[in-house]
Amino acid sequence: MTQPIDLAALPGDFTWGVATSAYQIEGAVAEDGRSPSIWDTFSRTPGAIDHGDTGDVACDHYHRWPGDVALMKELGVTSYRFSVAWPRIVPGGDGAVNRRGLDFYSRLVDALLDAGIAPNVTLYHWDLPQTLQDRGGWPARDTAAHFAAYASVVAGALGDRVGQWATLNEPLCSAWIGHLEGRMAPGITDLAAAVRASYHLLLGHGLAAQAVRAAAPGARVGIVNNLSTVEPATASDADLAAARRMDGHTNRWWLDPVHGRGFPADMLETYGVDLPERPGDLATIAQPLDWLGLNYYFPAVVADDPAGPPPHARQIRRPDVPRTGMDWEVDAGGLEELLMRLTREYGARTIHVTENGSAYPDTVGPGGAVDDAERVRYLEEHLAACARAVRRGAPLAGYYAWSLLDNFEWAYGYDKRFGLVHVDYATQRRTVKSSGRRYADLIRDHGLLTGGAVPRRPHLPGTTTRATCEPSHPAP
Ligand code: IFM
Repeated sequence: MTQPIDLAALPGDFTWGVATSAYQIEGAVAEDGRSPSIWDTFSRTPGAIDHGDTGDVACDHYHRWPGDVALMKELGVTSYRFSVAWPRIVPGGDGAVNRRGLDFYSRLVDALLDAGIAPNVTLYHWDLPQTLQDRGGWPARDTAAHFAAYASVVAGALGDRVGQWATLNEPLCSAWIGHLEGRMAPGITDLAAAVRASYHLLLGHGLAAQAVRAAAPGARVGIVNNLSTVEPATASDADLAAARRMDGHTNRWWLDPVHGRGFPADMLETYGVDLPERPGDLATIAQPLDWLGLNYYFPAVVADDPAGPPPHARQIRRPDVPRTGMDWEVDAGGLEELLMRLTREYGARTIHVTENGSAYPDTVGPGGAVDDAERVRYLEEHLAACARAVRRGAPLAGYYAWSLLDNFEWAYGYDKRFGLVHVDYATQRRTVKSSGRRYADLIRDHGLLTGGAVPRRPHLPGTTTRATCEPSHPAP
């Protein structure tokens, strides 16, 4: 059941997007000169990924992209956020450029533009070439310079047609989950390595921002962070301090340096690890940002955990709170709060919600429909939160639903489905879910209401509860 929501506050030129990332959808991991990434390696590590899933085939988007672009056009989205796979472009990590890799993204960009969809390119969504991992990975300083060189190549090839660029997606996950918790590639559990990785990721961001601007003058460059609101589990001093540390670990560590404030002193003390800082680094990291990307999924409620790893704060599971299939709390108010925090505390001038979405255990109905009422509600509530934030002065310019397609959800493999479009992995059949249909309606209604760019009415086949789209270009 859909509910009326008031999105009138969203500007007429609001960007309505969907997002994906390379390793999660492309497949074709050994085609056209792509080299293995750390995720190819990690997904082959016994026990690392549920059911032993890998991104080898994923959504086969590498072959089915024309059909996927057609789907986006049918939904009426005005922008597509996708990532470029570094191992396709510079398979050796540094050095020789692979023309076939660039050509793939060039064709995709052309098709998007033909469909009236603005490409929004993320340069790094976690798929470091394995060869660079073998040479030290993100804990090594050289990786930041190699990243900038790769960014320059991509911007040089696509910058005539791509206006919006993100350097990194969620460096928190690369550094903390990949190098401290070990639940993501490269699967390391070492605080010193994690802090060094975080530093070089942000240095890489700054260098890449410079490289993109040099290669594509006029490019609008930003960075994408996953942020959470943080609340203490109780009013005790210990929990309040734990909440402050979790806020530092999750939010301030990533926001302060890129805003020219340096790394938070309290967190340097918490980690107790020296930064590999050289003169000029902090200025490089603090490149001017044309926009800030906010990925929002859930709030964090934390208690003191002195024996746990830094930040010595443990997430509490509150009873009687709605949760998604990831067991993440649903709290749309958190999105509004974070948008206001970026506006007030960090002076953001343009923000995009670059990811927001929910996994639920979808079922395919007898007629082939996927009636995902919980995801519809999640989408509506979070879009309403965006509109409230805009009313309160947040410079929110766009929203990207995560995700266009069900896809490889990292350590959870294919079990967790975030898509507005269902993917049957056995046949690669795409089926627009009720949430995709609802998103299309909201986009269309907003265009009509504001007199902004009115997307064509989507021509999704089926009734309001059934929509099935075959990829128009099945794999050979
Ligand atoms: O699937 C991920 C994505 O790659 C990064 N942001 C969070 C999503 C859901 O977990």
